[in-house]
Amino acid sequence: MDLKHILSTQQFLNRKTLQDIFKIADGFEKADQKDKVPKLLQNKILSCVFYEPSTRTRFSFESAMLKLGGQVISTESAGHFSSAIKGETLEDSIRIISGYSDAIVLRHPEADAAKRAAKVSSVPIVNAGDGTGEHPTQALLDFYTIQKEIGRIDDFKIGLVGDLLYGRTIHSLIYLISLATNVEVFLVSPKELRLPEKYKSFLKTRGIKFSESSNLENILPKVDVLYMTRVQKERFSSQRLYERVKNSFVLNKKSLNKLNKHGVIMHPLPRVNEISKEVDSDNRAVYFRQARNGLYIRMALLNLLFTKSKNLPSKQ
Ligand code: CP
Repeated sequence: MDLKHILSTQQFLNRKTLQDIFKIADGFEKADQKDKVPKLLQNKILSCVFYEPSTRTRFSFESAMLKLGGQVISTESAGHFSSAIKGETLEDSIRIISGYSDAIVLRHPEADAAKRAAKVSSVPIVNAGDGTGEHPTQALLDFYTIQKEIGRIDDFKIGLVGDLLYGRTIHSLIYLISLATNVEVFLVSPKELRLPEKYKSFLKTRGIKFSESSNLENILPKVDVLYMTRVQKERFSSQRLYERVKNSFVLNKKSLNKLNKHGVIMHPLPRVNEISKEVDSDNRAVYFRQARNGLYIRMALLNLLFTKSKNLPSKQ
């Protein structure tokens, strides 16, 4: 596929493209296990420009680039540690950084930031989370995890739980879910944090069966995938509202008894209280493997941005 920028999962609404990316990720995982990752990105420089905090996205992109033989230049807290603090616009910063690197991974608090960056950048922009907008590389690794953990991307029931209003991973995942056949989506949130209308309209347009509720317990026996999310404290203008809704859904040992015995528990992480630590040892808890999958999906995506797929390792 011709991939200039990665801005939204709407660019990936093609099953063949997804399966190609997943196969490449599988190949990199196998190569990594044998310590034989081909150094395909030598002489390439990746800039990681993060205006918001990150553990998984930034470290996994940087690790992916380094494993592939490339180099990384990076800033965290870019709002403070770049010339943004002196008043430089995002557009000017991106114009400059694109002159120093071959691709830019950008995280920013504003929902249209990645698109704005792509308009002025001379190199590919990867949206690593744009405010309450999207987080496409997370959703790609989430969908990859679904395939790996339940063995299919069709014929499943999924519960999307928590902050559906502000949760950008949810927004990106909704688009990918629309590729599945015979899928049913349970949207579970406090009423103040319901999924924005545009995503519901999209599901309707694609003929995806979905329902909304504020009841986690009811869906536990039904779902093949339980996708929990954190209530996004940083997006609330009212801290009183945040305090009221923050612990609306907590998955604990007691809930595990009700969960479908084949159901897997996912979470983009970080978690706060929505999954108790006692759940971690349950064999249905896959969120740490999910985070690890991000490394291989991001290796695959960097390669798609930089090289031709014929050079890639194949799954043994
Ligand atoms: N899932 C995710 O985006 O995690 P980070 O905020 O740690 O990158």
